[in-house]
Amino acid sequence: MKISVIGTGYVGLVTGTCLAETGNEVVCVDIDEEKVKRMRSGEVPIYEPHLDVLFERNIEAGRLTFTTSLKEGLDHGVIVFLALPTPEEEDGSADLKYVLGVSEEIGKLLKGYRVIVDKSTVPVGTSEKVKEAIGKHASHDFDVVSNPEFLREGYAVDDFLKPERIIIGSSSDRATELMGKLYKPFVRSGNPVIVMDEKSAELTKYAANAFLATKITFMNEIANFCEKVGADVDKVRIGIGTDSRIGKRFLFPGIGYGGSCFPKDVKALHKSGRDSGYEFKILQSVIDVNQRQKTILIPKILAHFQGDLKGKKIGVWGLAFKPETDDIREAPALYIIEELLALGAEITAFDPEAMENVQRKMGDRIAFADGMYQPLENADALVICTEWGVFRNPDFTKMKELLQDAVIFDGRNLYDTDEIRSEGFGYYSIGRGQEGNHATNT
Ligand code: UDX
Repeated sequence: MKISVIGTGYVGLVTGTCLAETGNEVVCVDIDEEKVKRMRSGEVPIYEPHLDVLFERNIEAGRLTFTTSLKEGLDHGVIVFLALPTPEEEDGSADLKYVLGVSEEIGKLLKGYRVIVDKSTVPVGTSEKVKEAIGKHASHDFDVVSNPEFLREGYAVDDFLKPERIIIGSSSDRATELMGKLYKPFVRSGNPVIVMDEKSAELTKYAANAFLATKITFMNEIANFCEKVGADVDKVRIGIGTDSRIGKRFLFPGIGYGGSCFPKDVKALHKSGRDSGYEFKILQSVIDVNQRQKTILIPKILAHFQGDLKGKKIGVWGLAFKPETDDIREAPALYIIEELLALGAEITAFDPEAMENVQRKMGDRIAFADGMYQPLENADALVICTEWGVFRNPDFTKMKELLQDAVIFDGRNLYDTDEIRSEGFGYYSIGRGQEGNHATNT
């Protein structure tokens, strides 16, 4: 099929590339000329595992091309995906200026029947607005479909190629049939294509993300309580996760959720509720608890150093909001670093992928290390903010030699408390009893 994707951000690129991989002819449109030039030469503008291989292969095969011309995109694809940014406004709502601006342009450029697909995460009712915006100028038939993405950063290619479900919000049989045909190769395993009305599809995306954010936040609160009463959240997690109604996944406590989706989507759903006269009390709590959780290590660090961090050298492992991405949006590491700097600490950080992004944001306010052990040199403590694989099984002997004070503040519960203490480290983690959160190396 001939497909166009408007917007080559994270979602657009993965969508375009994966659709080309299943034999479709895909044209990706972006207004950024420089980016289009780079993509044409085979450069993937984001870090996402496995995307580069598919990207290169499909460009070479001529199935994946790039243009800055919206007209070219519209002339090409019978299905046109909108994968445009919906930035968070100050009041938490999603700004639709890109989605609606492009929709108006589409209306002017339509030359024949097109299915316009909302792939961005957009508030309930957006498909109606898109329909209106296109309809203002359109002299040809078109349908608007809501088809939210459920792509995790770091696993986006796999999530796209093997989705657990496809949600299609459509009130047109013609559009539903075309969408079903497009997605057929991805659901051969029997996973469902669920067709519903547009509004329910739009809300499905928000409800899924808000539910997952709530699940994590609930566990973070249980973890905090564990520390008060001397229980171990790892045991509680395993205990409750075996109940199939709860499930094992997304129960890992830590220093809060971050990234481009959960924080923005929870706030946007909360705001949509207010706008419709409904107060989502649970979501307000999720927002508040998550904000507090991001810096939950700070009181532990302060207590360890008797309230004085002036001139303390702190090494940081992990800057990205989660492993396998260079994304630092709403990353807990940045909140922790800001607080540590404000308290007078000096920071040297290492992250396998995200250092350039942080340097762009923070300049030389912190130092960046060449390798993972460098931040430990003569440091007074190590703070772990992201659970990258390389941090899971490090050379503890080397770490002890390098650190001035062998103490670790672990925001991701990477190590077994007893084991790390027997290695001679002071170890503070999240929710694993009062004991585990006291330094024992002195
Ligand atoms: C998420 C959704 O999973 C995806 O379906 C949606 O389309 C986009 O948002 P993503 O933001 O890439 O994807 O990351 P995800 O792996 O879901 O993790 C989100 C956040 O939750 C991260 O900050 C992660 O560290 C945190 N998390 C996750 C926990 O703190 N504990 C867990 O048990 C799981």
